[in-house]
Amino acid sequence: MPVHTVTVRVPAKVNLQLSVGPREDDGYHQLVTVFQAISIFDDLVITKGEPGCGTSLSVTGDQTHGVPTDESNLAMKAASLIAKKCDIDIDAHMEIKKSIPVAGGMAGGSADAAAAILAIDSLYSLDLTRDEMNEIASQLGSDVPFMLSGGTAIGQGRGDQLTAALSRGTYHWVLALSTVGLSTPAVYTECDRLRAGLEIAEPQISDSLMQALLSGDSSQVGKLLVNDLQAAACSLRPALRLILDVGQEYGALGAIVSGSGPTVAFLVEDEDQGLDLAVALTASGVVGSVTRAYGPVHGAKVVDSR
Ligand code: C5P
Repeated sequence: MPVHTVTVRVPAKVNLQLSVGPREDDGYHQLVTVFQAISIFDDLVITKGEPGCGTSLSVTGDQTHGVPTDESNLAMKAASLIAKKCDIDIDAHMEIKKSIPVAGGMAGGSADAAAAILAIDSLYSLDLTRDEMNEIASQLGSDVPFMLSGGTAIGQGRGDQLTAALSRGTYHWVLALSTVGLSTPAVYTECDRLRAGLEIAEPQISDSLMQALLSGDSSQVGKLLVNDLQAAACSLRPALRLILDVGQEYGALGAIVSGSGPTVAFLVEDEDQGLDLAVALTASGVVGSVTRAYGPVHGAKVVDSR
């Protein structure tokens, strides 16, 4: 039986380390980052349509505000890149069931692009290799290759050159979400502005963080969380400092702005501490909404095919 519909589930991410080098001539920055995929998922359902109907997209769920459904959506860009590369017509509808916060620093758009690559590969039996998928992914965005792989990984270059990282145990997170997102380019620009005139060193991987992950020492990981974009995100959104303080007061192992923000991620000891912190953050009144997650989890994967 030919396949008609494929569903791919894809996670969100947090950056345990995000070290940003100087701005390069192309506007991008050399990064050293450690990604962890966490248990907030978007589902992308792709369904074949009539020949000639073209590719279309809809977005459903609580988290749809500000998500485009035209060619500017990364999942649509993924489809047109694959159509060109493989010389096929993609006459299909994609539905993204969104749970990953939009413009939250958790790679929601990149996750959907990764999901689209895998879904199209599966629906059209393209048998793209992992390298071919990664090449398409890195053309779509710096975080997209990681959303394909998931788990825990070191990202270098623009963040798209991945090496798997060894990590033991499960890490529990409380995430403070904002109702209004932050633009990633705007946060990088603010980072450049704040660092103007300073000598910026080449970013280096934190050996102590790698060691802490290897031994599964979450309290050590909490202390070593680092994000060079945090000052810029807080400069654009000063309320983030209050949120970081509340989490630290309530004994989180570590607190960090996720990627370019504005989501704030708190590492906690276990589910019970996570629940207590979630209640405290909600009661504090400084947070839009709170959710919990754990990591690492798998990257984009086909969960249904019929
Ligand atoms: O690669 P992606 O499209 O996700 O990047 C979004 C924006 O983030 C870029 O336009 C750029 O402003 C910034 N960026 C950067 N250096 C990186 C990755 C992203 O400056 N390594």
